Amino acid sequence: MANKGLAKAPEDTCILVTGGAGFIGSHTCVELLNNGYRVVIIDDLSNSSEVAVKRVRRITGVTDDRLRFYQNTLLDRAAVERVFDENDIDAIIHFAGFKAVGESVHKPLEYYWNNLTGTLVLCDVARNHGCKNLVFSSSATVYGEPERIPIDEDCEKHQATNPYGQTKTMLEQILTDLYVGDNEWDIVLLRYFNPIGAHESGLIGEDPKGIPNNLLPYVAQVAIGKLEKVHVFGDDYDTPDGTGVRDYIHVVDLARGHVSALNWMAGRVGTGKATTRGTIAGEPAADGTRRGVGIFNLGTGKGSSVLDVIRAFEKACGHEIPYVIEPRREGDVAACYAAVDKARDELGWTAQYDMERMCQDSWRWQTMNPDGYASATE
Ligand code: WQD
Repeated sequence: MANKGLAKAPEDTCILVTGGAGFIGSHTCVELLNNGYRVVIIDDLSNSSEVAVKRVRRITGVTDDRLRFYQNTLLDRAAVERVFDENDIDAIIHFAGFKAVGESVHKPLEYYWNNLTGTLVLCDVARNHGCKNLVFSSSATVYGEPERIPIDEDCEKHQATNPYGQTKTMLEQILTDLYVGDNEWDIVLLRYFNPIGAHESGLIGEDPKGIPNNLLPYVAQVAIGKLEKVHVFGDDYDTPDGTGVRDYIHVVDLARGHVSALNWMAGRVGTGKATTRGTIAGEPAADGTRRGVGIFNLGTGKGSSVLDVIRAFEKACGHEIPYVIEPRREGDVAACYAAVDKARDELGWTAQYDMERMCQDSWRWQTMNPDGYASATE
């Protein structure tokens, strides 16, 4: 079935957000609804809460069926069919997937099955319903140990050090091959750096299960007294203060990057001609929308060390945060941050918020929701 273009007003456009109850997904739903899109969420709630969906309604004031929620896994083909039968989906933003680096090493079969098969079912059902527009939640992890920093989209991709990272690399290839085999597909691969922070309302935020693997939620839980001290994994890297350097990006900036990606797909922004740096860009179709594979880093272009983050969070919470230096964590790279000119020039998108704002918003979420969504009903 031919692909429906995206060159319609947002109010006439329905976006399926897989994993839309999750950390980045829920923030993206807020931005989509604020821009007038209709939104359908499919989420199995394996690593999220329906409370987040209710909070999206509170933040946006959307209480009707401009926002719909289906609690299903993408592995349930009949359920995915029903979503497409009941909604006229124009494009997909695909977040759903397992994402814990450490866990993936011990559960490779679960990660490959869930992340790869779920995506294949999604694309097959979408194609059969004439929907071939997909924005994929990829990750800077596909670069592995970077050839150069800042990392640009042409940087060589290296072997991921874990099954989670492998699924991102594999899915980028699968989605690229969909376009190569059928030029009606329009794909955008968004490579996130380190998303942190929370919506300014404090109503939605990062809610990791158990002990956080990532730095920011761990620091936040030390700051609120749930954990004793931060364990800093190594202070002997070749970086300004010896601790690891990353490109932390506010989750709201990241969410807005997805709206910009939809505008790019619809031909509303960008030069229209084939771009360089990793993109396989076809010419815009007759209806003005694009076909091709757009690849974009979503980062700030600025590196911050572990100690920078701790200091910024101390400023946000108003008290000292204890930490201890530990040996390096296996698989970590010294430094990783993005070249951001392509997203600026092609998507017309640039991250707006700095580390101070990221920590302020994260602290507000943490203090308003000390147990995340667990003890909340709405
Ligand atoms: C950041 C820095 C650690 C925890 C991961 C995934 C990546 C992406 C983002 C999904 C590093 C240090 C951390 C701690 C520490 N996720 N650290 N103590 O590893 O850059 O990226 O999350 O796409 O795929 O790999 O993020 O927050 O785990 O680590 O010192 O308790 O903080 O060494 O320098 P990372 P992170």
